[in-house]
Amino acid sequence: MATTQSTSRGNWNSKLGFILAAAGSAVGLGNIWRYPTVMAENGGAAFLLIYALLVFIVGYPVMVAELSVGRKSERNPVGAFRALSNSKFFPIVGFWCVLCGIVILSYYVIVAGWTIGYFFEQIFHYSGWTEMAAWVANTDNGWLNAGVAIVFMAFTVGIILGGVSEGIERAVKYLMPLLIVILVVMIAYVLFQPGAIDGVRAYLLPDFSAINSDILLAAMGQAFFSLSLGMGALITYGSYLSKKENIPEVAGYVTLADIGIAFLAGLLIMPAIFMAQNQGVQVFGDDGSLIAGAALIFQVLPELFHNMGGVIGLVFGATFFFLLSIAALTSAISLLEVPTSYIIDEHKVRRKTAAILIGAIITVISVVIAFDTSLIGTLDFIFSDVGLPLGGFMLCLFLGYFWKMENAKLELGQGFASIDEHWFFPVWSVFIRFVCPILIGLILGRTLWALFF
Ligand code: TRP
Repeated sequence: MATTQSTSRGNWNSKLGFILAAAGSAVGLGNIWRYPTVMAENGGAAFLLIYALLVFIVGYPVMVAELSVGRKSERNPVGAFRALSNSKFFPIVGFWCVLCGIVILSYYVIVAGWTIGYFFEQIFHYSGWTEMAAWVANTDNGWLNAGVAIVFMAFTVGIILGGVSEGIERAVKYLMPLLIVILVVMIAYVLFQPGAIDGVRAYLLPDFSAINSDILLAAMGQAFFSLSLGMGALITYGSYLSKKENIPEVAGYVTLADIGIAFLAGLLIMPAIFMAQNQGVQVFGDDGSLIAGAALIFQVLPELFHNMGGVIGLVFGATFFFLLSIAALTSAISLLEVPTSYIIDEHKVRRKTAAILIGAIITVISVVIAFDTSLIGTLDFIFSDVGLPLGGFMLCLFLGYFWKMENAKLELGQGFASIDEHWFFPVWSVFIRFVCPILIGLILGRTLWALFF
């Protein structure tokens, strides 16, 4: 990845380049598809509150941990755990990371395919080709799902094959700000529509009685998913990071960009969901839970763009879905890079062979999911909500008790000259050794207990 040289493992072109690549990994469908869906399913404002807390208390410290393990070891997750300790156990955790990457990407490309489908849906709708528009908008069409997912996967593999950093850096630098502009304009538009204000209320006024252990797990899973944590994506990205960079600082930018965009997406989609309901669309069931499922966002948003009407509706709708596809692409790249770099480093396979091989495996799984999209919910629960926090938990134990904090401090000190005087390290080290693993352990333990007993 990046500018791959024959002797070293390549590096990001610049500090900004790295921040853009990591932000590109973080900002994706997680922010605009997964976050609003999970949030609406889990009571809106209460979820937002817990989610934000978990992002800062657990997500950010774990991000710093992943980046330092990656930069120190200059390896993929399996190799990193091997390189930094003699433990026989932790490389298994690395395999779990690789597996999570493979499975998550296999349903991620299905949803990414929908964003491409809806890009065309907007164009067909505004061209008056109603039947074509309805056809591409059908998320239950297995062949269509499979076809578009394969196209998306081909793009992802294609980028991984070449020099990644150029493409990602450019895409993120210009297109991400544009995505933010569209979000803000759409929010302004939506807030004046009938029924929207109820959505804002549901998003921003927490109902504390709604907080339960399901929300806790959902919020934690979402924090890991959205920040691209828990499966070594940032170990891998960190392995290409220059020693000159200040890890806590860059991790801070990435975290803020990620949560900022998620917050905006919620502010657009919650009102949109309530508007849809106002227009008679059945969105919530009698028990208050969301009934529309994984494809909800893809039913509510296009309507919104249709309602805007005229050229404006077309421009906004098509641009929005185009940008969302690009955001999904820069995230998918980081998911694919984990298994790919594992095979390259540990099995001495060429980058090209590795990327195509893994890409093919993932495509096969995707095609199965394409025909039964209800699998997305199940796989997402196992590999994101449970799998990622589990990976994060193991990483904290690894860093705190096997690799040891002093070594982490030496690594973090590169690019962070004042680390000895700064409050950051002592606080972070308490979080990595105690706060994060205990919190993750409690929330995960609670869920698994409820599941099996
Ligand atoms: N964070 C991305 C998103 O929000 C998805 C993603 C990319 C991811 N890399 C990851 C999720 C690694 C978990 C782990 O869309």
